[in-house]
Amino acid sequence: MTSDQVAAGGADASGDAGYAGPPGRVGGDGRATVVAFANQKGGVGKTTTTVSLGAALAQGGARVLLIDLDPQGNASTGLDVRISGDEPSTYDVIVEGLPIDGAVRETAIDGLSVLPSSLELAGAEVELVQAMARERALARAVDAARPAYDLILIDCPPSLGLLTINAFVAADQLLVPIQCEYYALEGLSQLLRTVGLVEQNLNAGLAIGNVVLTMFDARTRLAQQVVDEVRTFFGERAFETVIPRTVRLSEAPSYAQPITVFDPDSKGADAYQRLAAEFAQRLGLRTFDAKRAVEVAAATKAAEIAAQQAEAQRGER
Ligand SMILES: Nc1ncnc2c1ncn2[C@@H]1O[C@H](COP(=O)(O)OP(=O)(O)OP(=O)(O)O)[C@@H](O)[C@H]1O
Ligand SMILES: [Mg+2]
Repeated sequence: MTSDQVAAGGADASGDAGYAGPPGRVGGDGRATVVAFANQKGGVGKTTTTVSLGAALAQGGARVLLIDLDPQGNASTGLDVRISGDEPSTYDVIVEGLPIDGAVRETAIDGLSVLPSSLELAGAEVELVQAMARERALARAVDAARPAYDLILIDCPPSLGLLTINAFVAADQLLVPIQCEYYALEGLSQLLRTVGLVEQNLNAGLAIGNVVLTMFDARTRLAQQVVDEVRTFFGERAFETVIPRTVRLSEAPSYAQPITVFDPDSKGADAYQRLAAEFAQRLGLRTFDAKRAVEVAAATKAAEIAAQQAEAQRGER
């Protein structure tokens, strides 16, 4: 760990009093900032946020590595990266000590790479229990990869097990997606406690970082109440941008495309592009240009449509 990470301080998991901890280490020194997307609650938008934000950041010029740390592999398939046979994955990096470079894949988006996962990773929780320094397996691999990227984003599984602890030890900060629904804050004190324990014992540089509200439905009063509650608790750590619940966002994974590729004109794409701008600003990420992110997304879609039309014309002849 570097002295600037230590100086950035740790999380203040102070329970009910609200969260006003430091933002965590930020980049700008030629080494990636590592952000874990975590919430042990299932289905709150961790993967959608990691994939969509990663895509928008890369389209804006940042060099991004997305690490799929969930055996479900939704982030990998959402970026059209599939593992077949004995191709290397997150499992090999964590359990077998394979260097990250040996398993990273490029995606269809320039500047966005992914370390894909597979179901095999489910066994890692058990296999790692026997291993030396079992909580640091991912951190070792991630630290070696820092010089090659501006950002390393880790999509965590919905638990606080050994895989997620590995992410917390590897990360500089968390980004916690919170779904705008009843019981939204349930489980967050447990999450904050775990972060506090990791910060005290394993990674003094870890901080909560930021939270983002997801699946906001403007038609319900409850959603607005949740937004207010989260803002009261987390203050400025909650991003201004709130992600709306939209059909297009739920459809994008089945086309194996992030929303900014699938439908760059949609409300969901716009929300994640705005989130990318806010996130980049908070991290002091100089390689990201918000205007470029929007332009690249639009140009990519236009090229895809033109190619489809050309293909259709060839078919007619
Ligand atoms: N803003 C949104 N609008 C509509 N659907 C959404 C939105 N965000 C996510 N979804 C959908 O909700 C489901 C859960 O989202 P996602 O997979 O991102 O959550 P998760 O926290 O990663 O889940 P898990 O805990 O299983 O890893 C998915 O089907 C996803 O497509
Ligand atoms: Mg997920």
